[in-house]
Parts: sequence; structure tokens; C-alpha cells
Amino acid sequence: MKNVLSKTLEEYCSSLSTQSGDALNAIERYTYTQMLKPQMSTDSWQGSFLTMVSQIMSPKYILELGTFTGYSTLCLAKGLSSEGKLITLEVNAETLAKTKAQFQSIPEFNKIEFLNGAALELIPTLPNDIDLIYIDAKKDEYHDYYESLIPKLRAGGILIVDNILWYGKIVDSDKDKTTQLIHDFNVRVFNDSRVDNCILPIRDGLQFIRKH
Ligand SMILES: C[S@@+](CC[C@H](N)C(=O)[O-])C[C@H]1O[C@@H](n2cnc3c(N)ncnc32)[C@H](O)[C@@H]1O
Repeated sequence: MKNVLSKTLEEYCSSLSTQSGDALNAIERYTYTQMLKPQMSTDSWQGSFLTMVSQIMSPKYILELGTFTGYSTLCLAKGLSSEGKLITLEVNAETLAKTKAQFQSIPEFNKIEFLNGAALELIPTLPNDIDLIYIDAKKDEYHDYYESLIPKLRAGGILIVDNILWYGKIVDSDKDKTTQLIHDFNVRVFNDSRVDNCILPIRDGLQFIRKH
């Protein structure tokens, strides 16, 4: 697999972007000592971007698909308005229970609702008028997440989707199934008159989407 940016450039960007605090460092330690696939977690560089977007928006309602160990959950929750809440969805009950336990001592804990279940089943049960959405769950469901969430996103709301350059494989002429799916997703977003978008080569690539 190719990296989107060289390791040297990634390290440069990461080292000169706002660093994680103690709580995020503790989640990172937990992820790398306890989880089988720790690389699934958002890192400090991408996390600093998510926090900044959230802080600029000061959202009342954030939705995240794919909690894992909660690194991106906390990055996003840091920008919530004083009365704001974040709902995060995770299909793996054991992962979610352990993550929730890790969060008990974090000040943002009371603003976060941890829901166990498959995203496509839970999304229809969620309230509308979401300010900020972060999608980081099952790649082959990206199209369905998008179609079910755009109506729930408020006008002017932001949707961020992770892994949309798929380790740089997105530009391969001979694409495997997942790569083709993600490419089709990027084309779908580009052609959607309901939104504006910008692809950002942060880590594995972020779709940054604004609903009109
Ligand atoms: C890449 S990880 C998320 C990483 C996390 N956002 C972070 O940055 O630390 C993807 C997570 O999505 C969860 N997941 C996979 N399919 C899902 C689904 N259909 N609904 C909800 N969560 C799902 C996986 O169990 C996994 O924990």
C-alpha cells in the first residue's frame, strides 16, 4: 500500500500541529496496548484538524459513525457548545463498553452518548438537524450512510468522511472492490448539487462536505 504523503511529510505536519493533551494521549496508549488494530484510530495530526473544525463550529449536535477507542470522539467533543451533545455509534458491543469505561474520568463524558448497534439501523432513529457528522465506520456502506445522513444534516452543516484516498490506491487504474467503491463515493459527492466539497490529503484522506 502507498502512503498518501511520505512518512517524513506526515511527521513534519504532525509535529508542527497542535499536540494532543493528556486525555487523548491516554486513549492512544490504551489503543496501542489493548487493541488488535490500533492503526484504525485517528492520530494526533488528524485529531487536531477535527478539534479545530468542531471548535470553529461550536456545534450543538455531533454524530460520529465508528467509535472504536474514542480518539476522534474526544477530538470532536472538545468543540461542543456548552449545551451540546455528541452521539457516537459502534457495532462492536465489547469495544464500546471498554471505550465507555475509559471515558468515565474525562470531563466531556457527560456530553457523549455511546450507542451500540449497526449504523444503518440506528441512523433512522436519530434526531434531525445535525451540525457536524464524522463517518469512520464500514467502508462498503459509505454510499448508504451518505444518503441516509444528508437529509438529517442541517443546512450549512458539515460532513467529514475518513479514508477516502484509501492508502493512495484511489488513483490506481486497476482498482480493487473497496477502492472502486470509495472512488464512486467521491464522484457521487462531487456530482451532488446539495453540497460543496473539498478533498483533503490529511492522513488517509478526508472528504470535507458542506450542505447548502
Ligand atoms: C476505523 S474504526 C473507527 C476509529 C475511530 N473513529 C477513531 O478515530 O478512533 C471503525 C469502527 O467502526 C466500527 N464499525 C464497523 N462497522 C460498523 C457499523 N456498521 N456500524 C457502526 N460501527 C461500525 C468498527 O467496529 C470500528 O470500531
